[in-house]
Amino acid sequence: MTDLFAPLRAEKEVIRDGVVLLSGFADSAELLPAIKNITDEAPFRHMVTPGGRPMKVAMTNAGSYGWVSTPQGYRYLPEDPVSGAPWPALPEVFLNLATRAAKKAGFGDFTPDACLINRYEPGTGLSPHQDLDEADKNWPIVSVSLGVSADFQLYGLKRGGSPLIIPLHDGDVLVFGGPSRLVYHGVKPLVRSRHPLTGDQRFNLTFRRAR
Ligand code: SIN
Ligand code: FE2
Repeated sequence: MTDLFAPLRAEKEVIRDGVVLLSGFADSAELLPAIKNITDEAPFRHMVTPGGRPMKVAMTNAGSYGWVSTPQGYRYLPEDPVSGAPWPALPEVFLNLATRAAKKAGFGDFTPDACLINRYEPGTGLSPHQDLDEADKNWPIVSVSLGVSADFQLYGLKRGGSPLIIPLHDGDVLVFGGPSRLVYHGVKPLVRSRHPLTGDQRFNLTFRRAR
């Protein structure tokens, strides 16, 4: 007999006001081929920070706008500066996932126009920062983890302090917005391990509304 009350795999956990974790909400088997298509057009690259250093996380974008770091600063651009062509369009599987996740997390209708794709190798992390380059901070950020697990560091609205560590596994979606839209956050250096679909790598998609 099937248990009608068996918990669904995709659980919803409110971590704090405006931060919601949807465990196992995304399907990497469905998303990874879409990432492959995007990166065939707009390959991963190590962008250079305003401080002049190449970033350890490899990045690319899909959508009407893409986030870029240059020695002149951070910005959203409609074209990939490497090719001069528009960024690859957001695939339907991306749009559908981001919209459903935002709704399930309680943020209502969200239509992203940008998706930053991050690739982490063993030993690669992301130092604490705020996502500040989007025009309207009323929209949430929908962050999707794929492949090898990582420890996400959730700080407060001011720099510093000790973070809450949120382990993010393949398929987990973290949504932050509202009173937590401007939280500082980072990712601890990736511990070497293996995922059947990504090897020793982790991918992260962040869906944003840039304009
Ligand atoms: C980011 O803050 O842009 C990425 C977060 C993550 O990789 O989980
Ligand atoms: Fe971020």
